Amino acid sequence: MGNNQTIKNKKLANWVDEVSKLTTPDTIHVCDGSKDEYDSMIKIMLDQKIAKKLDQKKRSNCYLFRSDPSDVARVENRTYIASRSKEDAGPTNNWIDPEELKKTMRGLYSGCMKGRTMYVIPFSMGPVGSPIAKIGVEITDSPYVVVNMHIMTRVGSRVLEILGEDGDFIPCLHSVGKPLAKGENDNGMWPCAPLDKKYISHFPDDLAIWSYGSGYGGNALLGKKCLALRIASVAARNEGWLAEHMLILGITSPTGEKKYIAAAFPSACGKTNLAMLIPAIPGWKVECIGDDISWMKFGKDGRLYAINPEAGFFGVAPGTSMQSNFNAMKAIEKNTIFTNVALTEDGDVWWEGIGYPAPGKLIDWTGKEWEAGKSASLAAHANARFTAPARQCPAIDPAWEDPNGVPISAFLFGGRRPGTVPLVHQSFDWDHGVFMGSIVGSEVTAAALDLKAGTVRRDPFAMLPFCGYHMGDYFKHWIDIGKKSSPEKLPKIFYVNWFRKNDKGEWLWPGYGENSRVLKWVFERCNGEGRSVETSIGHMPTLDAIDRSGLEGVSDDYMKELLKVDKNGWLKEIELIKEHYAAFGSKLPRELKDQLAALEERLSRQHG
Ligand code: GTP
Ligand code: SPV
Ligand code: MN
Repeated sequence: MGNNQTIKNKKLANWVDEVSKLTTPDTIHVCDGSKDEYDSMIKIMLDQKIAKKLDQKKRSNCYLFRSDPSDVARVENRTYIASRSKEDAGPTNNWIDPEELKKTMRGLYSGCMKGRTMYVIPFSMGPVGSPIAKIGVEITDSPYVVVNMHIMTRVGSRVLEILGEDGDFIPCLHSVGKPLAKGENDNGMWPCAPLDKKYISHFPDDLAIWSYGSGYGGNALLGKKCLALRIASVAARNEGWLAEHMLILGITSPTGEKKYIAAAFPSACGKTNLAMLIPAIPGWKVECIGDDISWMKFGKDGRLYAINPEAGFFGVAPGTSMQSNFNAMKAIEKNTIFTNVALTEDGDVWWEGIGYPAPGKLIDWTGKEWEAGKSASLAAHANARFTAPARQCPAIDPAWEDPNGVPISAFLFGGRRPGTVPLVHQSFDWDHGVFMGSIVGSEVTAAALDLKAGTVRRDPFAMLPFCGYHMGDYFKHWIDIGKKSSPEKLPKIFYVNWFRKNDKGEWLWPGYGENSRVLKWVFERCNGEGRSVETSIGHMPTLDAIDRSGLEGVSDDYMKELLKVDKNGWLKEIELIKEHYAAFGSKLPRELKDQLAALEERLSRQHG
């Protein structure tokens, strides 16, 4: 063994033994989560020219990585839900028979860690020991994964202690799929396997994850999408709780009243921005619990309590600036890993939308020289990301590590919708809110490798790539959650859209910190206040209900457009929803069919 940590847990010891026999690494290292360990991983990668040290005065303890151009985002068409029955994976997931898939993958794993160290990473999703937290162990041959897991999860010996001899954990097996010949090292080449050898596999029946061939983001940091969403969503259905692709924020009014809001937006639709927003309206405060994932369970009082299972942010760099996200910019000043951003001559990072022009010549994310105005390509990859400890966010909520979680007052759903969908509307009740979640859709962005940018895709609850079972059953689970408590205790449900455009293609709403004006109305509605009208699509703010004090550029005419119920647009939308729903067949809950029919009926009665 590469270090002196011993494994007392029997299941873990057996699994490590089995995997090492299959993958034949040179050595095994059991991770303790220490700073020394982090530093030694970085040293290995500096030596192999995989990591670049940034200027330590500007970016203390920060490093830059450039991935292989074929390995820059999640690969949804190589992601599998291998449940025993195909029916359980449903129409929105790729499925392969689990035995067949395991056979194929055992073939790939055979000898795949040759020339490398096998790292065993015990980690907790959620505060260590929290009743909502879960323990996983990732086996990987990537020191890049180890340092990222150090930031994104709670890694180390305390987790092994909690496991004890007989404790259970979720096994997460990962390899970059690039064995090394004797004496060979990566020598500046990001290790990964070709696309047709990549597999991101989930076995919901035995709650296990096998990933092969990619070293990037959600493909490789298996605590995140694989465990905390795909596998946890299955556990959540079985056990009556929620594992969601949601940010969590705390909002405090000028009188000191605080509420927590969770919001589900598809990938790259602004969860990180909203989670760390600085309110434009005086006297209001927003604090961040998490920016990507929320686990929620009912408390004894019948309310839903949420934790952020993660410990860091794996955020999109391009577009992040002091203007668009001050708190994120502060969080990434130190102890941060940058992947696929551009490098400046003085050893700092740069990306499109950082808020200032490129200072001289750069090295782009592919390692080539880059000059503003001369180079045609982007300096930073559109899905370039930073990995930063959550505690470094100046707006981190004091309760962000509360093991009991925080009570949720409202859910928001949203996505990029240039037309039809108004700035904000509120559901009539829980089932109507579930309907809203089920029809979430967005213009496609760069977070997934295999989709064409610019088209709209349905992404129910922002969970399309992350639901570990049949999406129709998932809808039913949400309907059932609404029956577990009383309406006044359940979160109120809203649909927001920061992304409306006029016919010239300009934003109708300024977004970012100005979104606090919408949050204020949401806050008021949760208290039974806030001026509203009942429309065919839900409760909506009256023209004067969204606080526009101090806001320039949003005239009454713009506001009317932003809050319009576009009858023709919605009638077309209904046809699209019918197509979307058709995929779920008999698994579509009757409640949602009824909601759609009721909406159509209300719209048909609407004038103009
Ligand atoms: P994942 O980490 O992929 O799950 O995505 P995310 O939801 O955290 O997305 P992120 O915060 O990285 O935002 C993605 C993009 O949305 C960035 O380009 C932002 O500039 C943009 N964005 C965020 N908020 C707003 C807004 O209020 N208005 C507009 N117009 N753009 C926004
Ligand atoms: C997303 O795509 O929603 C992400 C990035 O948060 S990744 O972790 O790579 O999935
Ligand atoms: Mn995400």
